[in-house]
Amino acid sequence: MDRPIYVHGYSEKEAERLGDQARTLLGLLHSDTQYPAMSWVLEAGCGTGAQTMILARNNPGARITSVDISPESLRRAESRIRREGIKNVTFCVGDLFALPFPPRIFDHVFLCFVLEHLPDPDKALAALRPLIRPGGSITVIEGDHGSAYFHPESSFAHSAIRCLIDLQKKAGGNALIGRELYPLLERAGYVNVQVSPRMVYADASRPELVDGFIRQTFTAMIEGVREEAVSGGLISREEWERGISDLYRTCEPDGVFCYTFFKATGTV
Ligand SMILES: C[S@@+](CC[C@H](N)C(=O)[O-])C[C@H]1O[C@@H](n2cnc3c(N)ncnc32)[C@H](O)[C@@H]1O
Repeated sequence: MDRPIYVHGYSEKEAERLGDQARTLLGLLHSDTQYPAMSWVLEAGCGTGAQTMILARNNPGARITSVDISPESLRRAESRIRREGIKNVTFCVGDLFALPFPPRIFDHVFLCFVLEHLPDPDKALAALRPLIRPGGSITVIEGDHGSAYFHPESSFAHSAIRCLIDLQKKAGGNALIGRELYPLLERAGYVNVQVSPRMVYADASRPELVDGFIRQTFTAMIEGVREEAVSGGLISREEWERGISDLYRTCEPDGVFCYTFFKATGTV
């Protein structure tokens, strides 16, 4: 049976949300993830394959191995990739802390939105390092919910966001991990560590981001913990509904929304 590893869950709706997120943020997060032809790439924590599609399409000559601890997510990822006729990805169920690969087998490792759900991200990065050949690289992409700010300002919206941060912490994760990528990679022994903050800025002149990011990605993610937040006593139902409605309010013609992702690279 699949373990409930992360706060957003494994529902069909969450799979769709991750897909929307990946498509909306394609250029911002992925345009510079380039792997040479014939290189071996490990994608750790591929989930239902939202990033796998992009990695595989952007790097058609690379040989990608995508792993996840959830067999059900992996099945969805595999059928999605096969449906698209993509041929350069193989899938493997596995725990990224104990993967069944020999040392130094991969040229590159890629992780996106995985560390934020782990109680021990240090150990995860340290466990992946021996799999990378000398001179090879790791790329890590994470968000940071503390980076969300918007107009009109709303303390209710911030309280709703805070509920997800607190619930994720209770589940052993860290929704504020983006700002920690530099020290995490350094501590895990990677060198040449570079962090590139990627801000999503959405206003009415960018309707695709208003819909794809504010509505379908960020607010949908916060809304996903409604029942847990309210029944767990983190917030009253009235305050919660006001917070969500104020997040949607930022989609109006005079609204503005900012959020920062962090993309880190390091070498071995
Ligand atoms: C938020 S999802 C991100 C999925 C994908 N990277 C994306 O961006 O769409 C986090 C994924 O990490 C996986 N995961 C969590 N712990 C793991 C572990 N120890 N080993 C492998 N995968 C793990 C979960 O099963 C889940 O699919």
